[in-house]
Amino acid sequence: MEVQLLLLDISLMTLWSLSCSAILSVSSSPLLAKPNCQSHCGDVEIPYPFGIGPNCSHGPWFQILCDNSTNLPKPFLNLTDGRPEVLEISLAGTLKIKNPITFSDCPNKPNHRQTPNLFPTPFWFSDRNKFTSVSCGRLAWLVSQSTAGTMTSKSALGTEPAVCLSVCDYPSSILVNNSCGGIDCCQTSLRSSIGTTFSISFGPLILNDTSERTCKYAFLVDPEWFTSNSTNTSAIAEMDDVPMVLDWTTAGSIDNSTEENRNCTSSVGPCSCLEGYQGNPYLRGGCQDINECEDPQRCGSDICSNFNGSFYCYKPLSPQPRPLQPIKLGIIVLCSVFGLLFHIIGAWWLHKVIKKRKNIKRKQKFFSLNGGLLLEQQLSSGEVNVEKIKLFNAKELEKATDRFNVNRVLGQGGQGTVYKGMLTDGKIVAVKKSKVVDGGEVNQFINEIVILSQINHRNVVKLLGCCLESEVPLLVYEFLPNGTLSQYIHSRDEDFPLTWEMRLRVGTEVAGALSYLHSSASMPIYHRDIKSSNILLDDKYRAKVADFGTSRTVSIDKTHLTMTHVNGTFGYLDPEYFQSSQFTDKSDVYSFGVVLAELLTGQKPVSVTRSQEGKQDGRSLATHFIVSMEESCLFDILDAEVMKGGKKEEIVAVANLAKRCLNMKGKKRPTMKEIAAELEGILMSSKSSDVEHIAEVERVQTEIAEVWDVSTSTGSHMDTGSSLYVQPLLSFRTR
Ligand SMILES: *[C@@H]1O[C@H](CO)[C@@H](O)[C@H](O)[C@H]1NC(C)=O
Ligand SMILES: *[C@@H]1O[C@H](CO)[C@@H](O)[C@H](O)[C@H]1NC(C)=O
Ligand SMILES: *[C@@H]1O[C@H](CO)[C@@H](O)[C@H](O)[C@H]1NC(C)=O
Ligand SMILES: *[C@@H]1O[C@H](CO)[C@@H](O)[C@H](O)[C@H]1NC(C)=O
Ligand SMILES: *[C@@H]1O[C@H](CO)[C@@H](O)[C@H](O)[C@H]1NC(C)=O
Ligand SMILES: *[C@@H]1O[C@H](CO)[C@@H](O)[C@H](O)[C@H]1NC(C)=O
Ligand SMILES: *[C@@H]1O[C@H](CO)[C@@H](O)[C@H](O)[C@H]1NC(C)=O
Ligand SMILES: *[C@@H]1O[C@H](CO)[C@@H](O)[C@H](O)[C@H]1NC(C)=O
Ligand SMILES: *[C@@H]1O[C@H](CO)[C@@H](O)[C@H](O)[C@H]1NC(C)=O
Ligand SMILES: *[C@@H]1O[C@H](CO)[C@@H](O)[C@H](O)[C@H]1NC(C)=O
Repeated sequence: MEVQLLLLDISLMTLWSLSCSAILSVSSSPLLAKPNCQSHCGDVEIPYPFGIGPNCSHGPWFQILCDNSTNLPKPFLNLTDGRPEVLEISLAGTLKIKNPITFSDCPNKPNHRQTPNLFPTPFWFSDRNKFTSVSCGRLAWLVSQSTAGTMTSKSALGTEPAVCLSVCDYPSSILVNNSCGGIDCCQTSLRSSIGTTFSISFGPLILNDTSERTCKYAFLVDPEWFTSNSTNTSAIAEMDDVPMVLDWTTAGSIDNSTEENRNCTSSVGPCSCLEGYQGNPYLRGGCQDINECEDPQRCGSDICSNFNGSFYCYKPLSPQPRPLQPIKLGIIVLCSVFGLLFHIIGAWWLHKVIKKRKNIKRKQKFFSLNGGLLLEQQLSSGEVNVEKIKLFNAKELEKATDRFNVNRVLGQGGQGTVYKGMLTDGKIVAVKKSKVVDGGEVNQFINEIVILSQINHRNVVKLLGCCLESEVPLLVYEFLPNGTLSQYIHSRDEDFPLTWEMRLRVGTEVAGALSYLHSSASMPIYHRDIKSSNILLDDKYRAKVADFGTSRTVSIDKTHLTMTHVNGTFGYLDPEYFQSSQFTDKSDVYSFGVVLAELLTGQKPVSVTRSQEGKQDGRSLATHFIVSMEESCLFDILDAEVMKGGKKEEIVAVANLAKRCLNMKGKKRPTMKEIAAELEGILMSSKSSDVEHIAEVERVQTEIAEVWDVSTSTGSHMDTGSSLYVQPLLSFRTR
């Protein structure tokens, strides 16, 4: 059903377009007849100067009589001598009419009938016609009446326009050349112009022929018709007339005042439209411009432009563009807009992609620069506990630290600067940013990551993650709000004293952490930089050991590390290690002893004022402490808070422990495990003996937490390497 409808639709469309094109072609056909005049008679076009009716033709001679009595109307010329039927009119100056055949002694045919006389019309017999005779054995003559006067004798063969002789069944004697075979047919061209009048006659029998025929006929004929119709002579005998060509010219002047687009060979014609024009040159406005561009093949793929009398083909991008139609213009504008839009989006996207790739490359470069490969190596060797370490991206940390704003700086260390930061989940963290990348420092960073990833102890600062894709490596730690132990000890602020209880507890916690590092961890770790400024305090004033940059893991079978560089902080440095370059667990014990001395005396491990007092090696707290102990004047150097809060036996026990830790011979020092146990014991007895005192201490601590100011540590650093600890790594500031 739908298919049928579709087909119907298609056929209707076809019909419509056909009829449309028909209408168009009719309306655009060039003018033939005068306005309000019949242009056709039957099949025959009647162009001006010919015309049907009195006022439609150029003079009476051009008047065509249209006989509409028959089924198909036929046009006739109105000659004085007759009315021959018109077959075709050409504006090139010719017309074809039916020419009666001249018969002689033929059955049922009029005898000696002649072609009508054209005189005095502006028509004449065309020279194109050929004289044809079927009269075997006899001559056929064409005599021009207009030249008859000059003719003296019909026998003078050469002077006549045409003479024809054909033989009858006499193949051997072809006397006259002709185009219709020569046997029973003779055809010849006209040797001279006939003019307007001629007659045909037959001569006597000149060839003795056995089969002489009585019926003879001859005619002047349009050769095109004769050859194209391949007519045989007997067929023609059945006809009454044959086509013949006439020439014509406009009798008298043509209306030449207004016609510009025509070319007339003379004032009487014939005329033709100029090149590029078509139509009827004899009519006013008859020559109309040909729109060559209607032919799509005319210019091929180029654009065709028509103008009067000619046309022009040009390339689409030539400087003469065709004006655009509004719809086309709209489409082009739309396309351009969308094209531009897509272009912009594309460019933006490309820019993004390139930037991203660049960034990734940059990050990869940094990753390898920042020891990422080293870390990967460690990871593959199974030394690093991967799950614990989160790899932060650089952007995240940049955001967290407000682009590493100076206001967020918590402290400056030898390895880098520590910033306070807040992650997107609201977690407060400390971000350590390495100083300008230097192979050694990067290694320290990676080392710290590797060490800390293996440690899970409540008194060791927790490493949350790292970022290696930024320009310098970044380490992210848990944030500890209360700064370093060093700050507390040396603040000397009377309002916020570090009580004996706190000192004892901090010492115990640090000892526990170090004990864990030395023995409990899967693989012993030497901290190698124990000092009060590397001990941090959390919100509950719990100690946390930090800065594992120089720490080392040691295989269990090894008892020491042989270092190429002696690292550590002057004042805490084990003199044995300093001399032997062999770092043992007892080196950490020595450093811890210094911290204990610090806690007891409240003095800095290295002090210029002590040396000025003139005591031997007074610069070093360790020496100063030992000497004082040996001189039994320990209580002269103790901190006021210790004196105030501590019980004598506790203080003496801790001091003795410190003294043992500070023994010049490493082997004589206790292990961290022993120290931790001993301190634990002292702490427990202290706690059980004075519960109320502790409550008081807690209250004071809270107040301390609220108004805490940083005090600069002046602990100098002795390092055969390059880095110097000017300030504690994690310091705390509040405003
Ligand atoms: C022919 O033209 C003449 C003058 O030009 C006019 O008088 C006459 O009426 C016209 N005849 C017809 C049939 O139009
Ligand atoms: C034939 O032509 C004449 C005038 O030329 C006209 O009056 C007549 O109606 C026409 N007849 C037909 C059948 O066309
Ligand atoms: C034919 O021509 C003659 C003279 O030229 C004229 O008198 C006659 O009216 C014409 N016949 C017709 C039908 O127009
Ligand atoms: C006859 O006609 C042919 C070609 O049409 C031509 O070659 C030949 O010369 C003619 N002969 C005579 C005798 O005219
Ligand atoms: C033609 O031939 C016939 C017989 O074949 C003869 O009787 C006649 O006289 C001849 N005529 C001429 C003119 O030669
Ligand atoms: C051939 O002759 C016939 C009969 O006269 C005619 O109808 C036909 O149009 C002629 N063909 C050509 C090509 O002139
Ligand atoms: C000539 O034409 C007639 C009839 O059209 C036909 O009978 C005859 O055989 C033809 N002759 C030749 C030689 O073709
Ligand atoms: C137009 O015709 C008149 C008279 O027939 C002639 O004198 C004049 O030169 C012609 N003009 C042109 C442009 O042919
Ligand atoms: C007019 O036609 C003649 C002959 O066809 C030609 O030689 C001449 O150049 C043409 N004149 C113009 C202006 O076309
Ligand atoms: C073409 O010629 C016609 C009449 O001569 C004129 O009205 C028209 O403007 C011309 N067109 C061009 C494109 O020259």
